[in-house]
Amino acid sequence: MSDAPIDLRSDTVTRPTTSMRAAMATAEVGDDVFGDDPTVNRLEERVAALLGKEAALFVPSGTMSNQIAVRLHTVPGDELLCDANCHIYNYEVGGPAALSGVTCRCVDGEFGILELAQLEDKIRPINEHLVITKLVCLENTHNRGGGKVYPIEKIAAISRWARKHNLAMHLDGARLWNAIVATGIAARDWAQHFDTVSVCFSKGLGTPVGSTLTGPKALIFRARRIRKQLGGGMRQAGILAAAALYALDHHIERLAEDHRHAQVLAEAIRDTPGLTLFPPEVETNLVWFRIAPELGTAKDVAAALKQHGVLVHVTGPQSLRACTHLDVSAAQAERAADVIRKSLRKKVAVTA
Ligand SMILES: Cc1ncc(COP(=O)(O)O)c(C=O)c1O
Repeated sequence: MSDAPIDLRSDTVTRPTTSMRAAMATAEVGDDVFGDDPTVNRLEERVAALLGKEAALFVPSGTMSNQIAVRLHTVPGDELLCDANCHIYNYEVGGPAALSGVTCRCVDGEFGILELAQLEDKIRPINEHLVITKLVCLENTHNRGGGKVYPIEKIAAISRWARKHNLAMHLDGARLWNAIVATGIAARDWAQHFDTVSVCFSKGLGTPVGSTLTGPKALIFRARRIRKQLGGGMRQAGILAAAALYALDHHIERLAEDHRHAQVLAEAIRDTPGLTLFPPEVETNLVWFRIAPELGTAKDVAAALKQHGVLVHVTGPQSLRACTHLDVSAAQAERAADVIRKSLRKKVAVTA
């Protein structure tokens, strides 16, 4: 058995498989800034079709994709509405303010899920003192929400309301693939409720780099210019697009395995005194949990698990995240669960 640690810190830690590397090595390429890369073009067409949108743009990261979307839908002095724990607000280095001159009005969702009723009174009246409300950003699955799948009927209700009030809708779908597999709801059925949708290939799908922003042709035309301005124009990017095409063919259905492995970890956390799943039900591949003070801090617990070859991500003073992904086998998930049960139970016994 390998002694390599079981790395549950993030689903971004995966390395491209041998077959994915082979697809990358043999990709037909050209200069994508000239629009000449056939593999990038193929990927963009494929993702646009999958999401039922007119056009798509391949970009280096989910962050760039989201921030281009914010720029597309706003002008400086505007405001967007989002959940207080969303990635766009928390983990994109203040992008909306820094890159678009936009304020984020954060609303407390339940594990990232906003209800229409929470948004209905958030549109600013037109008044020279006030920012102008322009955009709603949702996240599915929700990272800090513990991998929660956004119920589609809630999205539909928010979208109907947003359209009625001329607000644009953007989806941060970094893990939309997980929502698709968890529910059986097709990509285009989710995407129809949004003007723009960002999806990532470098999380559960296991590619080294890459996201796409999809939307109407006119917006994606502008998005291409913004990508260039942000320094995201790539040349022979077909090597990366080939990995994404490979992942679309081979790595979507298998996300169900990651979801099963997350349940194995969740069971171990439920069985361990001092650990509490947060949210209590695990729906996809992200397992967030809280640490009772008698076990120490999250850093203490992460260090204890590391000693036994299991890496988790410290997300707060008393909270941790474990992610399952392509590079975690069923046996490794079982082993990690065993480590959680045994090493932390012992720790409670010693501390008590
Ligand atoms: C929900 C969500 N959106 C966006 C991103 C940003 O992706 P990237 O790291 O490619 O910029 C992440 C990254 O983990 C994420 O979890």
